[in-house]
Amino acid sequence: MNHLLKLSDLTKEELLTLLETGHDLKKKLKEGIETPYLKGKTLGMIFQKSSTRTRVSFEVGMSQLGGNPLYLSVNDLQMGRGEPIEDTARVLSRYLDAIMIRTYDQSDVELLAEHGTIPIINGLTDLYHPCQVLADLMTIQEVKGELEGLKLAFVGDGNNMANSLIVGALLSGASISVASPTGYQPDPVILDTYSGHPGFTLTENPYEAVKDADVIFTDVWASMGDEAEAEERKAVFQDLYQVNAELLSVAHPRAMVQHCLPAHKDEEVSADIFEKHAPYIFEEAENRLHIQKAVLVHLMGVPAYVS
Ligand code: CP
Ligand code: NVA
Repeated sequence: MNHLLKLSDLTKEELLTLLETGHDLKKKLKEGIETPYLKGKTLGMIFQKSSTRTRVSFEVGMSQLGGNPLYLSVNDLQMGRGEPIEDTARVLSRYLDAIMIRTYDQSDVELLAEHGTIPIINGLTDLYHPCQVLADLMTIQEVKGELEGLKLAFVGDGNNMANSLIVGALLSGASISVASPTGYQPDPVILDTYSGHPGFTLTENPYEAVKDADVIFTDVWASMGDEAEAEERKAVFQDLYQVNAELLSVAHPRAMVQHCLPAHKDEEVSADIFEKHAPYIFEEAENRLHIQKAVLVHLMGVPAYVS
């Protein structure tokens, strides 16, 4: 594993190893065992979009691993004034040991990896959110014990979360049903790759997707970058695409709800269901810290973790 650009770059074995390391690092943190595996290493964190969880969990995670996190807003970098990604990659590779980037175009993340000489981590693009889905899979393992054979469902906009979730679910041996309205379905790259996979179904009907599901995911109707379309999107989604008690009545009786956050309550998820499932949702947020530490130690070559 040289980078984390998208989950489809991982083998099933690499995915399961990362999850195992995440659980191990979480246990060590809770037991007060120090893990200074990245002493002397610096992670650059480039942000072109807002963030609470990604920024704080990567920053705290690097500190807990004994390394240094360096926050870099695109507005303050020459990149924001047009310096090419190719040159930024070559310069930053001379100072840093790895880069986490949150941006719009997936191609920018790929360019950084192509032209730099250090590991690149995708901290969210319009297309993918791999770190979030790793935390989601880790949380499901904790609550359900295993991923293999579970039925996951995603209700709402076929956005970065939906795209990464489809890949992560199928890679881990779970099945996934996605319910999205026409025009808001997952990316064609994903549909071309996974349509026809026995574990994947796509429908416009949330009740069909959620039927007997063990885990139900949703996400905002308008992602970062979609703000201008927010009202138009609300009109499309509001009648059918809310995770609420009525929709959950067709799910598995012990189904859990996940949300990557931030949530718009009483839009994509009803406020009562959000609160009922808050223990799972905030554990999922916490697990960003543990799984990203796993990603960092694997990418930066810590001998104890790298096979
Ligand atoms: N879920 C997530 O990525 O949150 P932030 O946008 O706050 O980083
Ligand atoms: N789909 C959302 C996820 C935020 C973590 C967005 O891209 O804004």
